[in-house]
Amino acid sequence: MAVIQLKLGTDSTTVVVEEGALSRLGEALVAHCGPSEGRVAVVVTDQTVGGLYGSGVGASLVGAAWQPLSFTVSPGEQSKRLTTAGGIYQFLSDNRVGRDSVIVALGGGVVSDLAGFVAATWMRGVDFAICPTSLESCVDASIGGKTAVNIPGGKNLVGAFHQPKLVAIDPRVLSTLPPRDICAGLAESIKHGLLFSEEFLLWHEQNASAVLSLAGSFVGELIERNVAFKGDIVSRDVREQSGDRILLNFGHTIGHAIEACCGFSLRHGECVSLGIVAACRLSQSIGLLGEGDVRRVESVLSLYELPVCLPEAFPWSRISEAMLRDKKATASSLRFVLLEGIGRPVVRDDVGEADVRAAYESLI
Ligand SMILES: NC(=O)c1ccc[n+]([C@@H]2O[C@H](COP(=O)([O-])OP(=O)(O)OC[C@H]3O[C@@H](n4cnc5c(N)ncnc54)[C@H](O)[C@@H]3O)[C@@H](O)[C@H]2O)c1
Ligand SMILES: [Zn+2]
Repeated sequence: MAVIQLKLGTDSTTVVVEEGALSRLGEALVAHCGPSEGRVAVVVTDQTVGGLYGSGVGASLVGAAWQPLSFTVSPGEQSKRLTTAGGIYQFLSDNRVGRDSVIVALGGGVVSDLAGFVAATWMRGVDFAICPTSLESCVDASIGGKTAVNIPGGKNLVGAFHQPKLVAIDPRVLSTLPPRDICAGLAESIKHGLLFSEEFLLWHEQNASAVLSLAGSFVGELIERNVAFKGDIVSRDVREQSGDRILLNFGHTIGHAIEACCGFSLRHGECVSLGIVAACRLSQSIGLLGEGDVRRVESVLSLYELPVCLPEAFPWSRISEAMLRDKKATASSLRFVLLEGIGRPVVRDDVGEADVRAAYESLI
């Protein structure tokens, strides 16, 4: 069992990585959110995850004297929107859920972004906990307190910072994750290696089959190291103001634009993989990164069955429009996180459109 304490400004998050963490959720919530007496714990989940793990979580909550309620959404990115949040508010109102309640996200990043947004806004904010069930959410989405929903104008445009008090990771749940989602989650882990540690990138290169087969000690190490990398950056820049946190956006500027254009037919991690390749080629074209490093990045992504070429070509005009709409773009220029080497990120806002376009078009 690993317990990682994250100090995030005035908030703190306890991350527990432990086999069986879901069956001990009720007690863990008492330990980190206070006594359960007379309090409601609202589990927000999706149909797939709720069907697999909802009853176990419900039993654990009852065992620790919480009053459990649950709200189930359809699986997939389409649920991460205001109408779904509106449905949850109505449910909370119908059930007279008060300020002392806890909202528990049980699911992947879609569920935690959505439930976290509701927890941040219901009665101006109630306690929040996450039980991440996808690899993407174990290694990335559950850490850092960013919550959001999408609107037609763009992804994650409406959101709030709201730190979970508890992130309870039970690695056993990953056994039911489809192989495609295992690979997709690993894109963010590879991203952390590229940004912060060549040694961690090497670890991915050397242990691909053990990681992909979710061998016990490798999965534990994978999750704990990613929580530590992301937790460290977030603790230095909780609200993305000082600049450190923007590094986590590596691969996401073009990645998010592809995600918006593909109508969510690609997984977030797959779009990030494509965005990473484009960012590396852009780094190469402006003289920051050598060709050998770019090839190395493509190889490690391919080792984890992540895309390095677009399965469907979107015209540059649509991609550039989507990038400009993305909240991370400033009015006239785009800020890119690039690499000067493996483990050596740099932020640049002087990159010309022609270079960005060429990097994107190299994916086609
Ligand atoms: N807040 C953040 O900091 C942050 C960071 C990274 C990503 N995200 C967001 O996370 C989302 C992507 O997350 P995701 O890939 O987890 O998506 P997801 O929540 O849609 O999960 C992917 C699929 O896996 C299924 N699933 C999840 N756990 C399962 C399990 N244990 N067994 C079987 N099926 C399971 C889900 O039902 C879903 O169909 C995106 O919306 C992205 O923007 C947020
Ligand atoms: Zn991401």
